[in-house]
Amino acid sequence: MRGRFIVFEGIDGSGKTTQARLLANRLEENGASVVMTAEPTELPTGKALRAALGGKAKKSECEMAVLFVEDRIAHNIAPVGGIEELLESGAWVICDRYYYSTLAYQGQSTDYEWVKSMNLRCPQIRKPDLCIYVDLLPEQSLERISKGRETVEIYENIETLSKVREQFLSVIRDLGETDNICIVDGYRGVDEISEDIYAIVSLLG
Ligand code: TMP
Repeated sequence: MRGRFIVFEGIDGSGKTTQARLLANRLEENGASVVMTAEPTELPTGKALRAALGGKAKKSECEMAVLFVEDRIAHNIAPVGGIEELLESGAWVICDRYYYSTLAYQGQSTDYEWVKSMNLRCPQIRKPDLCIYVDLLPEQSLERISKGRETVEIYENIETLSKVREQFLSVIRDLGETDNICIVDGYRGVDEISEDIYAIVSLLG
């Protein structure tokens, strides 16, 4: 079976990273070649973003939108370990965050149509085969973050995450016709969510 490109999305602390890992393990157990990847990436473009997210380098929201697009293009076309190259080799690529995040985070803080066009009209940004949105309320996700980590990134507060969640739901409505997006309820046990996700992925064929 040829490789597929699956993206996980959700607000900070939604559990998407855990679910991405569980799906990768399960596909591997079934003999697939799977590569897990994430945005921001580990490329120089992604490292600049991490510095800004940690509050070390101050960037405007428009600058952030452009930096995420630049990082995404680099992620797609990198000659080694790039999304295109991996899919070409037959691997399944599971990506923690993609353009839906830019449309949700920077789309709500800048101009949505501008952010949408930079991402969706870019010839070097591939459309995923499937996007899984793990839905959780900001109150619940922030509780998880406060238990799990010491450092907090710039968007991890109730005001921003409430706006971002609303925006994610609006992005999903907006792209419903063109992208294959499934919403899963993240306020359940890890295994139950994972079963749901595996059933959705099995439908890809
Ligand atoms: P992470 O917590 O999933 O590692 O993501 C890092 C942060 O980057 C998170 O707060 C969401 C933010 N982000 C954006 O604002 N726009 C984007 O396009 C991406 C990929 C992430």
